[in-house]
Amino acid sequence: MTPPISPQTLTFWRRGHAVTLDNVPADRTLLEVLREDLHCTGTKEGCGEGDCGACTVVLGEAVGGKLQYKAINSCIRLAHSVQGLAVWTTEDLVSAKGELHPAQEAMVHCHGSQCGFCTPGFVMSLFGMYQNTGGGQGIDRAQAQVELSGNLCRCTGYRPIFDAAQQMGSLPLPAGCGVNEPVVVAALEALGERPAPPADGAYLRPPTLTALLQARASHPKAQVVAGCTDVGLWVTKMHKRFAQVLDVTAAEELRRVETYPYHIAIGAAVSLHEAYAALVSERPPLKTFAQRFAGLPVRNSGTLGGNVANGSPIGDSMPLLIALGASVVLMRWDKKRQAVAHRELKLEDLYTGYRTNVMKADELLCWIKVPRPVDTEFLRVYKISKRFDDDISAVCLAIRMTLDGGRVSTISIGAGGVAATPVRARQTEAALLGQAWNADTVMAAMATLRAEFQPISDMRASAAYRQTVLGNLLQRFWLESQGLQAINLESVSMEALA
Ligand code: FES
Ligand code: FES
Repeated sequence: MTPPISPQTLTFWRRGHAVTLDNVPADRTLLEVLREDLHCTGTKEGCGEGDCGACTVVLGEAVGGKLQYKAINSCIRLAHSVQGLAVWTTEDLVSAKGELHPAQEAMVHCHGSQCGFCTPGFVMSLFGMYQNTGGGQGIDRAQAQVELSGNLCRCTGYRPIFDAAQQMGSLPLPAGCGVNEPVVVAALEALGERPAPPADGAYLRPPTLTALLQARASHPKAQVVAGCTDVGLWVTKMHKRFAQVLDVTAAEELRRVETYPYHIAIGAAVSLHEAYAALVSERPPLKTFAQRFAGLPVRNSGTLGGNVANGSPIGDSMPLLIALGASVVLMRWDKKRQAVAHRELKLEDLYTGYRTNVMKADELLCWIKVPRPVDTEFLRVYKISKRFDDDISAVCLAIRMTLDGGRVSTISIGAGGVAATPVRARQTEAALLGQAWNADTVMAAMATLRAEFQPISDMRASAAYRQTVLGNLLQRFWLESQGLQAINLESVSMEALA
């Protein structure tokens, strides 16, 4: 029998004190709480799906006695996920005397706002940058472009806003505008000492892996979420309702990246931003691709584990992870043995169909294991989308290859946007493996790759385009392997083009 669900109180820190709200539904968004419950309408709703950044707020978490700041999209963030955190909105930056924070003042100086609808979101992304750079120090144009890529403006143009990002660090910080970190850390630590939410509450966020797996076993109907950057859309766009939610992101063991001799293990609660930082530190050429995975607020909330478990056929992580030979660890609480059980499988074997997978009702995806690079690997990942920033792929193709004596000795190819699931291009791999790495081999493999999948036509691309571009990307991979430069986005300076 499904256990009853207890109403749940939400408490977070804002404007110098704890904000407590009773009976907050599990699926209420942070934006709804801010605008409708607290009547703070400075934070705007634009798209309601994590695309425009109008709803950006900054969260603060006490970690090791210091504050970590993250700009996030409040429209798709479930309110209970900020339990025990600090929240800043655009209203919270101004001093008691009405003086503007440098993030706001710089926007005024640089004429960074016209209609103003996007401005609160930009200001909060700027505030997050300000806090994470010791007061806006050393921000260059490239950093501004990357960290503001989740904020869209339809009328000002981005140059004045990038100017503001670079200028804010030189402006004085009025008394009362800054964050008194020791005070906030102490306040958050005090919040953390409050009694834990009920074990049958509406929003379950267990603090350990064992408690998480036990909660999954006890509440099989609860909606599992991590960063909620897709499930949030089910709420805002599909009007789905969830009586009970199980959030994996507080499980301490799953909040880290572990490094072993032959692989790294990324916990399911590690944000996309941190997970990609770990992947890029192992394989620096992935940097541009990592930055193109949505805007920073989405990368700050979303997790790699959530992206993989969600299994969208147009999710960008899976083609890369398949090419890298990643595997996933599924865990559950074995009631009979009263112990944690687990199994491991290759990522491409996780999926059974459109957003379906082999996970049992009591299993959770807990770890992603990624083999470490070998010196001889040649790796490229290509994302084809209509916009450079903050867009979803029409096609994503990742290829990892090693050569031995001019022949293909290992090859793994992951593809997205071409089937009902993220897929491994096994036929194309078979066409390449052991062959001489030359133009003839590539031409034949391009034909195989174009025929291997039967993609659909949708608003992102036609089926014919997808098939054609798949082959073209393999040709690009070949050209890059021959040393051709300037045929990929990594070699293009957006600054030079501006
Ligand atoms: Fe557009 Fe939230 S309202 S990202
Ligand atoms: Fe109008 Fe940015 S100032 S949308």
